[in-house]
Amino acid sequence: MGFPERRMRRLRRTETLRRMVRETRLSVDNFIYPMFVVPGQKVKKPIGAMPGQFQLSVDEAVRTAGEAVKLGVPAVILFGLPEKKDALGTQAYSDSAPVQKAIRALKKEYGNDLCVITDVCLCEYTDHGHCGVVDKGDVLNDATLELLSKEALSHAKAGADMVAPSDMMDGRIGFIREELDEAGFEDLPIMAYSAKHASAFYGPFREAAESAPQFGDRRSYQMDSANAREALTEMLLDEEEGADILMIKPAGTNLDLIRQARDEFQLPLAAYQVSGEFSMLKAAALNGWLDHDRAMMESLVAIKRAGADMILTYFSLEAARLLKGG
Ligand code: PBG
Repeated sequence: MGFPERRMRRLRRTETLRRMVRETRLSVDNFIYPMFVVPGQKVKKPIGAMPGQFQLSVDEAVRTAGEAVKLGVPAVILFGLPEKKDALGTQAYSDSAPVQKAIRALKKEYGNDLCVITDVCLCEYTDHGHCGVVDKGDVLNDATLELLSKEALSHAKAGADMVAPSDMMDGRIGFIREELDEAGFEDLPIMAYSAKHASAFYGPFREAAESAPQFGDRRSYQMDSANAREALTEMLLDEEEGADILMIKPAGTNLDLIRQARDEFQLPLAAYQVSGEFSMLKAAALNGWLDHDRAMMESLVAIKRAGADMILTYFSLEAARLLKGG
């Protein structure tokens, strides 16, 4: 049956009708809010390329996370900037580094009302800015696994609810799983940054986390953004190694992958709307070129429609406020 019997516009006439046939609905339950924790106290330093986002000292991180809790956002993911960087990123697994302190403070303040996830990677902690141990210009895979599992364990001991390795070394999910289990953290879930492309859209994050590589780039460990089958293989391996949640990143440039992964895997699926995606929308909105709230919600609903259960997004608080109607 076609036109004129079939008229698709009948169900678009009023907002009430549109509401009734809406297929995808965002909920605050979908959001994970990324935060950058720095040393010091009462620090709330704006991140230039990410309007409305800040580097936060632990006390300020607790305050900002409080807004998330109040809005019903269930989770934050923490990134840390250390006092001092070195070749092996030793601050990544120091019990007195900002992330470890923030975990303890957040768990103390909010208990089970807030799921505290930690990003497990070395690039914020190494002086060369790479995600692993560097030898003669190369990022070593197996030597890096040791350090990553130390970092994950240190987060676990501080009280993290979930760890999220983002380094893209081979075998790290299995390695970290084993180390966690051995230390008695067999109930701690791992959210694997499984399919992570070497993306230009991480640009603003590297300002926020002060983690730009000092030489070369990340293409020898992060994926070529042209590849989809390889991304599915990465996810398969992470599932086999024991990942509890699979993540795809960036989200907006990988909607096809999110859909394919949703159809192929049974595990919960997360997608990271990264810094550059956030900055693009903000910049256009600040110029008056886009309607901020509508563009924000449209970008998020697209990620959910593609098949993501969870969305890591810097818009978490703003979108949650909008969903609440305020
Ligand atoms: C750490 C890490 C990065 C991001 C998340 N974890 C940066 C990178 O890989 O260079 C990017 C997040 C964003 O752009 O918002 N490896």
